[in-house]
Amino acid sequence: MKQKLKKLFNIFKNWGDTSDYIRWMLRLTSRYKNSIFIMMAISFVSLIISYAGTIIGKYVVDGATTGNLSVRNILYMCFATLISILIGVGSRILGDYINEKFSFGIRAEMFSTIQRSTWQDISKFHSGDLITRLTSDVGSLSGTLISFFPNIILTALQLVIAFCILFYYDKAMAAFALILGPIGALCAMFFRERYKKYQTLLRENESEYRAFMQENLENLTVIKAFQREDDNEAAINEMRKKRLTAIFRSSRLSALMGALMRAIYSLGYVIAFCWGAYRISKGSITYGTLTVFISLVSQVQGSVNGLTNIIPQFYGMLIAAKRIREVSDIENEIYDGKENIPESVGITIEHVDFTYETEKVLSDVSVIIKPGERVGVVGSSGAGKTTLIRLLLALVKPDTGSIHYTVGQGIAEAVTPSSRRFISYVPQGNTLLSGTIRKNLLTGKDDASDDELYGALRMAGAENFVRRNPDGLDTMLSENAGGLSEGQAQRIAIARALIRNRPLLILDEATSALDESTESQVLKNITESCIGCTCLIITHRRSMLKYCDRVLEIYDDGTILVRDNHQ
Ligand SMILES: Nc1ncnc2c1ncn2[C@@H]1O[C@H](COP(=O)(O)OP(=O)(O)O)[C@@H](O)[C@H]1O
Ligand SMILES: [Mg+2]
Repeated sequence: MKQKLKKLFNIFKNWGDTSDYIRWMLRLTSRYKNSIFIMMAISFVSLIISYAGTIIGKYVVDGATTGNLSVRNILYMCFATLISILIGVGSRILGDYINEKFSFGIRAEMFSTIQRSTWQDISKFHSGDLITRLTSDVGSLSGTLISFFPNIILTALQLVIAFCILFYYDKAMAAFALILGPIGALCAMFFRERYKKYQTLLRENESEYRAFMQENLENLTVIKAFQREDDNEAAINEMRKKRLTAIFRSSRLSALMGALMRAIYSLGYVIAFCWGAYRISKGSITYGTLTVFISLVSQVQGSVNGLTNIIPQFYGMLIAAKRIREVSDIENEIYDGKENIPESVGITIEHVDFTYETEKVLSDVSVIIKPGERVGVVGSSGAGKTTLIRLLLALVKPDTGSIHYTVGQGIAEAVTPSSRRFISYVPQGNTLLSGTIRKNLLTGKDDASDDELYGALRMAGAENFVRRNPDGLDTMLSENAGGLSEGQAQRIAIARALIRNRPLLILDEATSALDESTESQVLKNITESCIGCTCLIITHRRSMLKYCDRVLEIYDDGTILVRDNHQ
């Protein structure tokens, strides 16, 4: 007995971070509090009107059984019904509107938080997982959240008012009919751990298969070349089985809970009904009172059925909220507000160590790069060249040591996200977006004229093939620069950086897919035209180092050596 009491008490304990999530959800909805308030007011008025109709009904029945049927009361009843219907239409339209506003609102907000998160933390998530959280989790949260708390309040109000009306006419009948409903809801609390488990499983499962599909669709050529179709289908089937099991268990739990609650509620109804019949046979209540009872029961029936969904809905929301918070809670990057673009930029790196998780990539790196200097960066694949660039772009932070820029007349400026304002960067690999070539180039400078665009393309060795295309700058590229060869895509990416025209230019294996003479021509163009511009050129072709003043070599142990190129 003591054990059972303890267990019952525990239902209200162990909320832990649940209350934190509830507060977060309330904060999200509170921005729409005016609309929600209007919705609730409308629903409340409609509730009162339908109860008024019920009570008028009692007088109609009582009048009829005593031989004075009141036409006026019947008209009142019709009027109440009509008003209810009209209010229903209005509240439905308003409800849909608020729902959509809210749902897209939090979707946009989450997207914006994610894109402003620190790269080091957010890049640990699979993009398929992030998309699932942004669409499916946000969808399932926003779909229920806006109406969840108002619905609970309205249902509670509805039950209380129904109880009071019944209580006024017959106390015992009220007790039988309506006390058992909420008790049923409490029963469902016993199963909350299981609801939580199934919901988590379902969500994780969804992320898993979305990530799987996205990745495989992006790499169709690999799938085909390695003949992975059958294995992929088997993998999908496995995921489907897992999902089916989870869905089956969770829906079995909900169905059982629903049945249990309806059974409890029906028991209350039958007892109250028999009690009413008994009282009529004794002549202590009128037929009208029994009509009030029957009509109230049918009115609250929907809400009581809704109660059976509250617990599963709540855990669905809770798990979605948790998954959204896992990404939206990641620290945002902080810009320090600097916007001036200096004429020249130097780089000072002092005793920098850098480690990803456990792997030490850079070890005691020190180098000073003077403004206007051209530095070639070499090292075997995986040595840490791209990592060095990530440090300069403030995408990651050094474990120890320091990096700062010297801007303009030798003013030191710490590396922060704001430093990106003076960097033109060509990332490693394919980084074009789908859309026209023009759209890609304008990423570098919104208001560039066609002449500027062609000028940059010329420097990047891309003018000819763009002009040869019948659509020119408006040539459409599909995903991953589909429609261009890899070397062509690289040259567009270089032009995009040149258009930006900032004092520090970083090329991360930007010419790796070009033939030697084209690469040489592109680098010659760049180094000749970017006078005063500091350049970091990562390359595997030693012959290209002739365009550099110095060479920075990164060794596999993470140490570096800098040598003068002209000696
Ligand atoms: N996001 C990452 N998380 C963990 N390890 C990484 C990450 N990116 C690169 N590394 C590791 O850091 C090392 C250096 O990588 P990188 O700087 O990309 O080399 P590269 O010189 O070829 O550009 C590699 O061993 C790689 O496995
Ligand atoms: Mg690299």
